[in-house]
Parts: sequence; structure tokens; C-alpha cells
Amino acid sequence: MLVRYKKNCEKIAMGLLSFMPQEKDIKKLQETIHTYENNPNWHLFMWKKDEDFVGLIGIETTDTECLVQHITVTPSFRGEGIGKEMVSKVNNFLPCNEITAAESTKPFLDKCSIQQEGTDV
Ligand SMILES: CC(C)(COP(=O)(O)OP(=O)(O)OC[C@H]1O[C@@H](n2cnc3c(N)ncnc32)[C@H](O)[C@@H]1OP(=O)(O)O)[C@@H](O)C(=O)NCCC(=O)NCCS
Repeated sequence: MLVRYKKNCEKIAMGLLSFMPQEKDIKKLQETIHTYENNPNWHLFMWKKDEDFVGLIGIETTDTECLVQHITVTPSFRGEGIGKEMVSKVNNFLPCNEITAAESTKPFLDKCSIQQEGTDV
């Protein structure tokens, strides 16, 4: 289930964010979480499985699109479809005309859209 980030999950969110290659440095991680907490155009969501948070997706909204800035899943839960499901559920929270990828999330987002096209055929 995708839920909005809350401040009391800060440490868990930072742990999940740190799986992104560009978020290894603690200062950078703190800046990133600060941006999600304070910039009204940045939105952070977490994937809750039973009682645990095992995934995270971060979106920057513009006038026309939802840009995926961060996407991560706990290693032991990868390959179960959580990543793709988080992308597909963003629309439940944000009015996205289009979901697009930042450079850092493009390889996975490309994979998601290729598979969506594949299932349409
Ligand atoms: C990317 C990530 C969020 C995917 O989460 P997930 O829950 O395992 O994804 P799903 O189960 O929905 O999809 C799995 C598929 O995505 C593929 N995939 C995983 N990481 C990928 C990546 N970086 N680029 C492209 N495809 C990727 C897997 O090979 C798998 O392919 P398959 O269906 O053909 O076997 C997860 O691997 C992760 O947290 N990676 C570290 C953080 C990161 O690098 N994020 C940016 C990715 S561009």
C-alpha cells in the first residue's frame, strides 16, 4: 500500500533513500529529506507491507508532469513488483498528466513503460 511520508518515518525514509547511488553522503541525504519536507512541489511516498516500510518513491511536480526523482525498494523485497506498483499508484495522490523520469530513475522507468506497452499489445 502506498502512503504519504510522515516525519516520524524520517530515519526509515533516509535508509531507503540511501539505496539511490547519488544519496550515499549523509549531508546530501539530509538535504534531500529536507526538500521533501519543505518544498510543496516535492512529494514523498512509502510502500507499506504488513507493518514495515519497504519502498519509497519521490516525485517532483511541475505544471504538466510528475517527475520521479527517487525510487527504491529494500533489497530483500526486490523483484516482487513493488517498484512498478509504486509508479502506477502515484496517480492516486497526484494529478499527473504524465509520469516522467529524472536521469537517476530513467533506467527503471524506461523498463516500466516498455512493459506497459508490452501488455497493451
Ligand atoms: C529499481 C528498484 C526500485 C526496482 O524495485 P523492484 O521492486 O525490484 O522492481 P519490480 O519488482 O517492480 O521490477 C523488477 C524489474 O526491474 C528491473 N530493474 C531493477 N533495477 C533496475 C534498474 N536500475 N534499471 C532497470 N531495470 C531495473 C529488474 O531487473 C526486474 O526486471 P524483470 O521484471 O525483467 O525481472 C530497486 O531495484 C532498487 O531499489 N534499486 C536501488 C535504487 C536505485 O538504483 N533506484 C533507481 C533505479 S533507475
